[in-house]
Amino acid sequence: MAAEALKKGKTVVFPTETVYGLGANALDEEAVAGIYRAKGRPLDNPLIIHIYKNTQLIYLVTEITERARLLIDAFWPGPLTLVFNKNLSVPNSVTGGLNTVAVRMPKHAVARKLLSLVDLPIAAPSANLSGKPSATKPKHVLNQLSDRVAVIVTDGDVEYGIESTVLDISGKNAVLLRPGSITLEAIKSIIGSVEVDKTLLKRADLNIPKSPGMKYRHYAPEAEVYVLNNTSDKNHHLKVIDAFEANQKKVLYIDKTAEALAKTLYADLIEADNLGYDVVIIKAVTPIGVGLAVMNRLLKAAEFRIL
Ligand code: TXA
Ligand code: MG
Repeated sequence: MAAEALKKGKTVVFPTETVYGLGANALDEEAVAGIYRAKGRPLDNPLIIHIYKNTQLIYLVTEITERARLLIDAFWPGPLTLVFNKNLSVPNSVTGGLNTVAVRMPKHAVARKLLSLVDLPIAAPSANLSGKPSATKPKHVLNQLSDRVAVIVTDGDVEYGIESTVLDISGKNAVLLRPGSITLEAIKSIIGSVEVDKTLLKRADLNIPKSPGMKYRHYAPEAEVYVLNNTSDKNHHLKVIDAFEANQKKVLYIDKTAEALAKTLYADLIEADNLGYDVVIIKAVTPIGVGLAVMNRLLKAAEFRIL
C-alpha cells in the first residue's frame, strides 16, 4: 500500500535508522510539493533523496568522484548524506533551487524494502512539523502527521535518534554541514581532511550557513530549552533550577551521556511538552564523536541559550 501510494505521487511516512522520514517521489514536482505542504516547510530548505542501490545515484548527480566512492564504500547503507553536484533530472523544488543535491542510502530494513518496491528516488525530510523535534517514536509521528499524509508505516523506535550526518563533497574540500552518528573522526579516517561549517556550534547571525536548513529555528519544543555548561561547581544545576522554580516554572533537568542523548533527546523534548514543563535544562556534553551532533542539536533547540 505504501509503495503504491508513493508511485501515485502521494506522501508516505516510513522509518529509517536515524529518524522517521516523510517521503514522496523525488522526480515528481507535485509529489514533492506535498512534502513541503505536509510539514509546513519553507520552500528554499532542500530535501534529502533516499536510494537503495548505487546504480540509482548515476541519474541524480553529475559525477561520482573517487572521494565519493570511498565514502560510499565505507558508510552506505547508513546514516551519512552526501551532497553532490546535481543532475538536470532532479527537480529544482527538491533542492530548493541549488545546483547540488543531497543523497543518502538508509540501512533500515523497512526503508530499504519500501525503496526497492517503489524503485524510485524518494525525497524525505524528517517526519515532523517544520521547526519541531524530529519524530523517533511511532506515537510522535502519529500525533504530528496523522491527518497530513496518505500512509504511515511504523516499525518501533528508531536506532540512532538524530538525523544523518550531512557532508558536502560537491566542491574541492569536503565540508561537514550537519554532524550525526557517522562522526567527523570516522569520515576523516577515510578521506583525510574535512572542513567544518562554522555555524555548527555557533549562532549563524551574519555567517550564511552552507546548508540552507541550518538558518531556521530547529528541533525546538514549546518549553524553553537551556544548555547547562559543564562547570567545576557541583551545585551549579541546583542553583539554576532553584532560580526557575522560584519563578513558578516547572523545570525538567536532563543529565545524560552523549550516546544516550543522541538516542532520546528528541523524544525527551516532545515528552517535556506533553507533560507541561515550562523549562528544560540539559547538561552539555563534550563535542567530540557523536557529542558534536548532540551539542549541535542541543544548542539549536536552546536557541544558543547557555547557563
Ligand atoms: O536522517 C536523515 O537525514 C533524515 C531521514 C528521514 O533520512 N532526513 C532529514 O531530512 O533529516 P531533513 O530535511 O530534516 O534535513 C535535511 C538537511 C537540511 O539541513 C538541508 O538543508 C540539508 O539537509 N540539505 C539538503 N539538500 C542540501 C544541499 N543540496 N546542500 C546543502 N544542504 C542540503
Ligand atoms: Mg528535519
